Amino acid sequence: MTEEKLKIYHGNIVYSKSQDALAVHRDSYIAVKNGTVEGIYDLFPERYVGAPLTDFGSSAIIPAFSDLHVHAPQYPQRGLGMDCLLADWLNTYTFPQEARYSDPEYARQVYGAFLNDLIANGTFHACVYGTIHREATSWLLDRMEQLKLRAFVGKVNMDMQSPEYLCETTEESLCETERFLEAHAGNRYAKPMITPRFAPTCSFELLKGLGKLGAKYRVGMQTHLVESRWEAAEALRLNPDCGCDTGIYERAGLLDNGPVVAAHFIFPTDEDIRILKRHDGYAVQCPDATVNVIAGIMRTATLSDQGVRLALGSDIAGGHLPGIYTQAARSVQLSKLKWFYEPEENRPIPFAHAFYMATKGGGTLFGKVGSLEPGYAFDALVIRDFSDPFRSLTPEETVERFCYTGNQGDIVARYLGGEALANEISF
Ligand code: GUN
Ligand code: FE
Repeated sequence: MTEEKLKIYHGNIVYSKSQDALAVHRDSYIAVKNGTVEGIYDLFPERYVGAPLTDFGSSAIIPAFSDLHVHAPQYPQRGLGMDCLLADWLNTYTFPQEARYSDPEYARQVYGAFLNDLIANGTFHACVYGTIHREATSWLLDRMEQLKLRAFVGKVNMDMQSPEYLCETTEESLCETERFLEAHAGNRYAKPMITPRFAPTCSFELLKGLGKLGAKYRVGMQTHLVESRWEAAEALRLNPDCGCDTGIYERAGLLDNGPVVAAHFIFPTDEDIRILKRHDGYAVQCPDATVNVIAGIMRTATLSDQGVRLALGSDIAGGHLPGIYTQAARSVQLSKLKWFYEPEENRPIPFAHAFYMATKGGGTLFGKVGSLEPGYAFDALVIRDFSDPFRSLTPEETVERFCYTGNQGDIVARYLGGEALANEISF
């Protein structure tokens, strides 16, 4: 009987109503039936008398986070080479690191630790890059499926302008991608996604072949789009007929087969924006990566006004921290900097908007996750009350302070699909 799976949690419940406003239910009860939110109540609902109650007191119960751009293989290099810019950072740090995933045993160890850290930091939904290596990337995807983490995971494609030790032939790249897509076609939680690294390392022939695979297997695409002036110029130098970076992927048939996820999207032309919107794509801001290796700031408020879907990414290891809550804070900071130096380009976004990007906005990619409204999966975190002896905080202030000053130790409980996760997860 389904009633047996009904559970009630008490606390201060906070989630995004919309990008403009947080919903705050102080001192309230959230009922969860078979892993899905059934409702939120001011008082313990009488009809549920006898259902198990977990009392989190004045802690905040919030939705788990979604990271729409993260490189699992770069986990061991986080915080290194952060004084480089993109091309140097890729050549000096990232490519040699990624070459190591030809060794499946090394991959298993790193990917286990990476997932552990992701979960510890409350990210339960993610759009993940592997490397060119199919076997290692398949292991990562299978592990996420096993853990019931909702995800899109990609075997990376690169067939030119890459070091010899990390470069595939076009044929090999397509063949390995097809094997990858075939192997995971039946997955329920973690699904494959086509992942051309970015235009500078992918021939148009490769992109066209990937477009055909996307159509055949009905699989979407993630890539790095207009992430730096250098990248955007290089993309057009290599594909002079395509008009703009996003146009390359549209022409290759990669934007019609499933979700489209564009990391960075910092220097889009009007045409890039029109194309991304036409395919209902996500533009993913990665605030720390932007500051560390990219040196450009997304026009978040302006793009949002123009109707572009926005989300947040950690971009480990362009970004150095796994917690998407830290990126929500940084997104607010960057919106102000962009506005301060280029007032016509952007305006500051409120914290509520950044939290929305981190939860409900990004969550739409994965289904009904990222909110605590009825019908959403109870993928939730419990954050300790951040009040201190000098000041008592409202629930929304606790959430804001957590995003600015918190860490994984401030997350006192985690629920995935209504199931409590152990605080110490080991692999
Ligand atoms: N552009 C191409 N590859 C990468 C990468 O690994 N990280 C980031 N941030 N940008 C890229
Ligand atoms: Fe990236």
